[in-house]
Amino acid sequence: MRSSNPLPPLLLFLFLFLFLHPLSSLANTCLIEDTCKHITAARPNIGYDFCIQSFNSDQESLSADAHRLAVIATRLANSSAVKTESKINELIEAESKPSTKDQLGVCSDVYSDAIDHLGNAARDIEARSYHDAMTFLSAALDAAENCEDAFEEAAVAPSPLEREDGEYGRLADMALAITASL
Ligand SMILES: *[C@@H]1O[C@H](CO)[C@@H](O)[C@H](O)[C@H]1NC(C)=O
Repeated sequence: MRSSNPLPPLLLFLFLFLFLHPLSSLANTCLIEDTCKHITAARPNIGYDFCIQSFNSDQESLSADAHRLAVIATRLANSSAVKTESKINELIEAESKPSTKDQLGVCSDVYSDAIDHLGNAARDIEARSYHDAMTFLSAALDAAENCEDAFEEAAVAPSPLEREDGEYGRLADMALAITASL
């Protein structure tokens, strides 16, 4: 029989699928765990479980290297910022008190800027310009605190965006910490 045997490629495929695939995702579970351990040791406010759960929410994490994890964390922070911005705009629509509208307006502005910064950060991480990316990520991270400050200065506590600011802040901090480690 001179024609090429179709079995070896099939076996190779099965081997890759059954053996290498679970192995590589196992190896990656380790990378995600190591990365989360590393960054939450220095920044305990992020929370190890939060870090793991965040990466597990994105399929690409399973095959990502540390560089891609930085991109993914930036993307997760961006989704959170986009969701927060639309929640802020809903609150502004429904708000009748001018001072609260003003505080929400500050939050809307800082999150809108943060989304721009995250876009620049993602582009710079992709280009492996990690230092430039960190500048944008730091600026983006400030949104959570600046929004909280707007309410704190007006002695409004807790802020109506406490949960969103907390979650976004942790995601943006993850992106910054991972980028800083590259
Ligand atoms: C952030 O989300 C917006 C809206 O979905 C999208 O247009 C933008 O590309 C996203 N940026 C990043 C860094 O993922």
